[in-house]
Amino acid sequence: MRAPPPIAMLAELTHRCPLSCPYCSNPLELQGKERELDTETWADVFHQAAHLGVLQLHVSGGEPASRPDLVALVQAAHDAGLYTNLITSGIGLTPKRLDALEGAGLDHIQLSMQGTTAALADRIGGYRGGFDRKMTIAEEIKRRGIPLTLNAVMHRHNLDDLDATIDLAVALGARRLEVACVQFHGWAVRNRGMLLPTREQTEATKRTVAEASQRLRGILAFDFVPPDYYADYPKACMGGWGSAGLNVTPDGTVLPCHAAESIPHLTFQSVRDTSLSEIWYDSAAFNAYRGTDWMPEPCQSCERRDIDFGGCRCQAMMLAGDAAVTDPVCRKSPDHDAVLRLLEESAGEPADGDFVYRAFPGRPAKAV
Ligand code: SF4
Ligand code: FES
Repeated sequence: MRAPPPIAMLAELTHRCPLSCPYCSNPLELQGKERELDTETWADVFHQAAHLGVLQLHVSGGEPASRPDLVALVQAAHDAGLYTNLITSGIGLTPKRLDALEGAGLDHIQLSMQGTTAALADRIGGYRGGFDRKMTIAEEIKRRGIPLTLNAVMHRHNLDDLDATIDLAVALGARRLEVACVQFHGWAVRNRGMLLPTREQTEATKRTVAEASQRLRGILAFDFVPPDYYADYPKACMGGWGSAGLNVTPDGTVLPCHAAESIPHLTFQSVRDTSLSEIWYDSAAFNAYRGTDWMPEPCQSCERRDIDFGGCRCQAMMLAGDAAVTDPVCRKSPDHDAVLRLLEESAGEPADGDFVYRAFPGRPAKAV
């Protein structure tokens, strides 16, 4: 049976970023500016995506505002008929640029939060003054009434700040708050011990989100991504491989998910030489873990196989060394011990250790 068309596309315009977050999920090997697709090629990719069936475009990075042609790219996405969401730290946006983005048809902004005080946020983002700049631009977004989601990436060092994060989201007029506990891909793996929340924090977070979702019904919607190392079953990563979404990296490589390049035996094609449609429907990489036929036991005979699709392929690769096995987060996985060992190890991590900050080539990481 032919795969359904994708609904969403993540366009990673650039890997460049002024922040140095220790939980960055971009790959260890970043792509430099010289490899980035130009404006015309991105515009063509957006038209191909719309033609393929994509409805939502998430414009991301790195920091997408690092691209001087951001307004032209948003305009191109709008002209292609895509609902366009800008995922940004806010650094690089100005009132004038916001006006231009609005004029170009930007539909939504997703603003990342590292913490609710300058001391905490700047330490985590590795960027002094970042919090104040973010708050200034958040007020500008609110003043214009652009639909806003706050994306709070949560971990051991800021989960106790969750109540304040919720209050801030309401104060900024956000319609949605993503409480996204760090997922361990790319650079984040280097800081896993420092970032993994404790079990107590995880339980407290679930209670806080449940209570706030009730209290703020109609005011603030919540998306909660719990730390899956404590879960019984894995998440349905990407809603299933090659099922609902695709990612395009700064140089035009098309991936079934953000971390797919960590699976060494897969080869990924580029929009520079193959159409998006051909890659989506016919490439070996997109078909590798599509549907349920590829699944091993215990997934193959499990009642949840159409719910979580065996979990995350990249996590299986990282924790079990094989992308084609059950996600070790699952309590039925024969590799589940690997997760329990990591939790034990992280429990012994000092709370006041040092992060290993992300650095972009040619720019030293800044510790605050
Ligand atoms: Fe999901 Fe596979 Fe675990 Fe069943 S065995 S819950 S399908 S990961
Ligand atoms: Fe690749 Fe989950 S991040 S499948």
